[in-house]
Amino acid sequence: MKSSTMQGARILATGSSVPDSYINNHKISEMVDTSDEWIVTRTGIKERRLLTGTNQSIIDLAVLAAIRALNKASMNPLKIDLIILATSSPNDLFGSASQLQAKIGAYKAVAFDLTAACSGFVLGIVTASQFIQNGTYQNILVVGADVLSKWTDWSDRSTCILFGDGAGAAIVQACSIKDNGILGFQLNTDGTQYNKLSIAYKEEMYPHPTLQLFQGSFKYITMNGKEVYKFAVSKVPSSILECLKLLNISTNDIDWLLLHQANERILNAVADKLSIHSSKLISNLSQYGNTSAASIPLALDEALAENKIKKDDIIVISGFGAGLTWGTVIIKW
Ligand code: UT7
Repeated sequence: MKSSTMQGARILATGSSVPDSYINNHKISEMVDTSDEWIVTRTGIKERRLLTGTNQSIIDLAVLAAIRALNKASMNPLKIDLIILATSSPNDLFGSASQLQAKIGAYKAVAFDLTAACSGFVLGIVTASQFIQNGTYQNILVVGADVLSKWTDWSDRSTCILFGDGAGAAIVQACSIKDNGILGFQLNTDGTQYNKLSIAYKEEMYPHPTLQLFQGSFKYITMNGKEVYKFAVSKVPSSILECLKLLNISTNDIDWLLLHQANERILNAVADKLSIHSSKLISNLSQYGNTSAASIPLALDEALAENKIKKDDIIVISGFGAGLTWGTVIIKW
């Protein structure tokens, strides 16, 4: 930590939520030309959750995840100073975080959205830690939530096998400097590669007749899977190593490697490059697929529920995805 740090920051509690409806590989293979065998061997994914039906939105998932985290911490929502909702699939382009604020009754909290796709939760935790470590706030709710099923082209086999819906929440709280748990971070963006993974805004063919103004809408996810795969396997290990070096921590000291749940092969390749044994990898990809900003907090919440993570464990967390963005935050539990 820098010497200007006023107080420490640590994750106090987590929560998560996924929709009840799910779609498995067999069902997808009835819709597009694919197979359970192809999907499992190439990605590790067996099924994913989908937010189906009407009158349900990303906010319902985010609210449930947040309430579960608040309950675990026995915290009154009025104690929350700031809410960061990391999402790339809001139900309001002006921002959805304020709906979350109102629905959980966190009326004293400032709330804003953070858009950084699958790196969103890492950026959210880093942003929260800065507000706490510089002494501005005491309690921050960070939620990673995405419903990419709404933006998936269900006739495109190269993407529809990957994504699922979910939400995960973490309460970051101030603590003494000696108990600081958010040890350091390393973040990156390469905007020259933005079109490798995108939900692009598309203009209509014809302009408004009077104004000559082109309007449009957002369409489906497009992805160059091979390129994104190569990017992840080469950049994520470098980010982790750089972050470890900054903190003078060795790869041998890592207890858990928690990567954005994109593809089992990516998780294994990153662990291999860092010579980290696969038993230290946290993975729930087979059940949920890639839930974008939700994937890390969802997996963290499950690992905690299974009592895998113990006090003082070092957890290396890395997110990567559209932007392209990638980054690492290292946590001492
Ligand atoms: O959250 C953001 C981060 N996103 C990611 O990390 C995604 C990274 N990319 C990936 O995970 C992988 O690239 C995919 C899982 C998307 C694709 O796996 P791949 O091993 O890179 O496959 P590929 O794109 O090289 O395609 C290999 C073959 C192609 O056929 P040909 O040209 O060899 O005849 C594809 O047309 O597999 C074909 N293919 C499929 N076949 C059956 C592509 N998708 C499918 C499919 N089922 N669903």
